[in-house]
Amino acid sequence: MAEGPETVGALCLEPVTAGGGVITPPPGYWERVQEICTKYDILLHIDEVVCGVGRTGTWFGYQNYGVKPDMVTMAKGVASGYAAIACLVTTEEVFDMFKDNSDDPMNYFRDISTFGGCTAGPAAAIENMRIIEDENLLENTIAMGDHMVSNLNALAEKHAVIGQVRGKGLFCGAELVADRATKEPANEKMVQAVVADCMAQGVVIGATNRSLPGFNNTLCFSPALIATKDDIDQITDAVDGALSRVFG
Ligand SMILES: Cc1ncc(COP(=O)(O)O)c(C=O)c1O
Repeated sequence: MAEGPETVGALCLEPVTAGGGVITPPPGYWERVQEICTKYDILLHIDEVVCGVGRTGTWFGYQNYGVKPDMVTMAKGVASGYAAIACLVTTEEVFDMFKDNSDDPMNYFRDISTFGGCTAGPAAAIENMRIIEDENLLENTIAMGDHMVSNLNALAEKHAVIGQVRGKGLFCGAELVADRATKEPANEKMVQAVVADCMAQGVVIGATNRSLPGFNNTLCFSPALIATKDDIDQITDAVDGALSRVFG
C-alpha cells in the first residue's frame, strides 16, 4: 500500500527462502500473499531456483503451499547441476500479454542467448527428471528430510547453540544462536568454523553468507535426493562433532 499497488508489476518470492537461512513460511503466509496479489492484480513470480525439481519433496516448492504462480523460474535442480540450464515458465495468460498483434505468428516474446539451441542441457534435464520419477526420489526426499529434521532436533537437545531447526524435504537448516531466548545470532566466524570442521570430516554443508550482515548464522543442508539414512546420519554426526569442538 505504501508503494501504491498500481506501481507493483509482480512479486518475486521463494517458496522457502534459501539465502536468508532456510526460512520456512509460517502457516497462512502463502494464502495471504496469494490473496493480496489477486486483490491488487499483481503477478506472482515464484523463484524455484533452489526449491525447484524435487528439493522439498514435491516437483516444485510452491506445491507444498497450494500456491498458483503466474511465472516460475528454476535452475539448479533442473539438471541437478550436471548441466547448466535454467527455465522460465509462465501461464498462457502471461505469455499472451507479450503479444501486441495476435494475427502475427512471430509476435511472441522472443529472447536470444549464446547457448540457445544447445541440446546438452535439456537432455540432461530430461534424464534427471526421469531418474527422479523412476527411482521415486520425491518419496525418498520426504522420508530422508523427516529423518534429517529429527536428527537435527535431537542435536538441539544436546547443543544449546541450536536455536531453531527448519526444513522442507531435503532442504534443512539449523540456526545457531548465542542466546536461545533472544535468538541473538551466534558469532559468524564460529558458524564458519563448524562448516570447516564438517569439511575436514569429508562432509560438505553450507551456511548463510552475505545475505543479511550479522545474520549469517544458519547451517544449511541440501543432501542429494538419493541420500540414504546412513548418509543423513553421517552428516548429522559430523555436525554433532563439529558443534562440540567449536562451541564446547
Ligand atoms: C533463490 C535463487 N534465485 C536465483 C538465483 C540466481 O540464479 P541464476 O544464476 O540461475 O540466475 C539463485 C542463485 O543462487 C538463488 O539461490
